[in-house]
Amino acid sequence: MHKFFILLIQYEIIFKILSQDIPQLINIFGRKKFSLNGKWNYIVDIQDSGYYDYRLSISDNGFFMNEKPKNPDDLVEYDFDKAPQMDIPSDWNTKDDKLFFYEGTIWFKKSFNYTINPQKKVILYFGAINYESIIYVNGKLIGKHKGGFTPFNFDITKQIKNGENFVIIKVDNKRRIENIPTLIFDWWNFGGIKRDVYIVETNNIYIQNYHFTLDKQSKKQINIKIELNTKISNKPIEILIPELGISKILKTNANGIISDILNPKKIVLWTPKNPKLYTVILKFDEEEIIDKIGFRTIEVLDKKILLNGNPIFLRGVNVHDIKPFTDGRANSYADAKIILSWAKDLGCNFVRLVHYPHNEYMIREAEKEGILVWSELPLYWTIAWDNPDTYNNAKNQLTDMVLRDINRANVIIWSISNETPRGSSRDIFLSNLIEYARKLDDTRLLTMATEVIRIGGTNIINDTMNNNVDIVSFNNYYGWYGKVNLTEAEKMKWFIPYNKPVIISEFGAGAKYGYHGEKNYRWTEEFQDNVYIYNLKMIENIDGLAGTVPWLLNDFLSPRRVLNEIQDLHNRKGFCSEKGEKKLAFYTMRNWYFKKIEEFGNLKVLKCFTISFIVFALIKIWTSLCTLSNNKE
Ligand code: GCU
Repeated sequence: MHKFFILLIQYEIIFKILSQDIPQLINIFGRKKFSLNGKWNYIVDIQDSGYYDYRLSISDNGFFMNEKPKNPDDLVEYDFDKAPQMDIPSDWNTKDDKLFFYEGTIWFKKSFNYTINPQKKVILYFGAINYESIIYVNGKLIGKHKGGFTPFNFDITKQIKNGENFVIIKVDNKRRIENIPTLIFDWWNFGGIKRDVYIVETNNIYIQNYHFTLDKQSKKQINIKIELNTKISNKPIEILIPELGISKILKTNANGIISDILNPKKIVLWTPKNPKLYTVILKFDEEEIIDKIGFRTIEVLDKKILLNGNPIFLRGVNVHDIKPFTDGRANSYADAKIILSWAKDLGCNFVRLVHYPHNEYMIREAEKEGILVWSELPLYWTIAWDNPDTYNNAKNQLTDMVLRDINRANVIIWSISNETPRGSSRDIFLSNLIEYARKLDDTRLLTMATEVIRIGGTNIINDTMNNNVDIVSFNNYYGWYGKVNLTEAEKMKWFIPYNKPVIISEFGAGAKYGYHGEKNYRWTEEFQDNVYIYNLKMIENIDGLAGTVPWLLNDFLSPRRVLNEIQDLHNRKGFCSEKGEKKLAFYTMRNWYFKKIEEFGNLKVLKCFTISFIVFALIKIWTSLCTLSNNKE
C-alpha cells in the first residue's frame, strides 16, 4: 500500500484517539445554549493549500491557526477578517454564484466572546455540515466528522478561553467512492455548514440522551430510559409530565442509566388527526431539559400498518430538504410550514424525507401538524459495500439519525437504503446494519426502497432483503423509464411474496410547469398527468397496499438533469415546480387521496356504524326480552 495511505490511516487512528468527539447531545432544542449562527468568514481553498504543505504532508501551520502578520515583513498569505462573509447556516452553492458548482474545500471562521464558568463543560454542536469537516478552536485541532446530514458535537472545555475565541472549520464536500452517499446521486451536492451551530454549557455530568415511548402491549404505560454521560450510580433525576400528573425522582444504576415505567392515569395518544404532545421536563443537578413528546405505538400485523393498534393508510409524497421558492437547503420552521402545507393540500398524512435525514425543524413541525415521517439513510445506489470504513460511517450516520429523532412520535419508519444493487456484499452490509438498527430502536418499523423487475405483465418484487424488513417498499417508474403501453397498466399483475404491508415508495413522471400539449408528448403536464392516471389504476391492484409515496412534491436541483429548456439542472418530476406552482398531476393525485380519505373514513364510519348497529340491536333484543318476561309475569 502506498506510503501516503499508510500515513493517512495512522493519522486517522491517532486522530480518533485525540478527537474530543462525544456522543450526540439529544434534544438540542430543549437545552441551555447560545448560537454561533450568523456571519462567518470564508476562504475557498481549491488545492487544500491551507491544510497540506507542497509535499502533501499535513501542515502544522495551516489556515486553522488564523495567523496574523506580527512584523511588517511577515508572510501570511490569508486573512479571514478580510475574506467574504456568508450567513450560516446555509449551503454555499446558493449563497455565492461563484460556488454554485463548487466541490472542494472551503474554510469557515467565526470569532466569539466567552466567559468561562469553571463548573461547566463547554460543548460545540453542529446540526449538520456537508460532507467532511475538520474542526479547530483557537488553533487547536478538536475533531473531524464525516457525513452531511446528522448532528455531531465536541467537548471544547480545554480549548475555550475567557474573552475572544475563534472556531475554524475545514469543510470539504468532495464526492468519494467510499463516502455515504457515494460518487453519484440524483440531488445537488450542497456544501457547507447547513444547519445550526451552538455552544452548549453543561455540568460535568449531564443527561446525554433519553427515550420515552408508549408500551406496545399495554398502550398505556410509558417505558423510559435516561442515560447520563458518565457511568455513575444513585444519581437522582426528576421526571415531570405535568399534564399527566407525573412527578417522579428516579436514581441511576451503575451505568448511569435509568430504565423504568411510568403509569399515567389517562393518556391521549398522538395521531395525525390529534397530534397531542406532552411537555416533559427532566431535572438533573440544577440542569433542566424540556421536550414535547407524543405517545403512540406503530406496528405491523400481516399486511397492515397499525398506529395505536388501528390500521392506517399512508398517503405520502417524497420531499427533498429544499427551502421553498429557492433551490437551496431548508433549515427553519418557516420552510417546513410551507412544504408541509403543500403536502397537506395534496391530501397527505405522511412524507418520505429523501434520501437523507432532513433538518430537525421539518421533523418537529411535521410532528406538531400530525404528519407521519419516513426518515432515510443516504445509502443510495452503489455504495462501497466491502469497505469497512464505509460500514462504520453508515453505522455512525444511522446512530445519529435515530438518536436525534428517537422521541419524535411522528417518525414511524427508518429506511436503511434506496435502490441498492442485489448482491452478497450488499446483503451482508445491510443485514448487519438492520440488526444494529433494531438494537438501537425496536419501537419503529424498518424498510428500504427496493427495485421492481417487470416480466411480461407482472411487476415482481423479490429483493431478498425484503425478508429482513417490516415493510416491503419499492420504486416503480411505469410509463417513464422504458416504453410501456400505459393502457395495459390496469391489467398489470403484482408478484409480492411477503405477508407484509407494502408501500410504493416512488412512482411518477416528469413535466415542465406550464408546458402543455398532447398527453403523448413527454415533458408536458398532460403526459405526466396521464402517467399518474394509469399508475394509480395499476397500484389499486396491489394486495396489502398500506401506503403510496409518489415522486415527488417539488422539482429540485440535480446535476444529472441537463436537458436544456426543460430540466435546466432540475429533476422535473415534482407535482409542483420549485416555486410551488402546481401541475395538472397535483390535482389527479389529490383527488385520489381524498377518495382514500373518504374510503378509509367511510371504513371508519362503517366500523362505527356497524358497532353502533350491533349495540342498538342488542338493546332492542334486551328490551323485547324484558317486555316478554314482564308479559309472562
Ligand atoms: C430514483 C431515485 C430518485 C431519483 C428518481 C428519478 O428512483 O430514488 O432519487 O431522483 O428515481 O429518477 O427521478
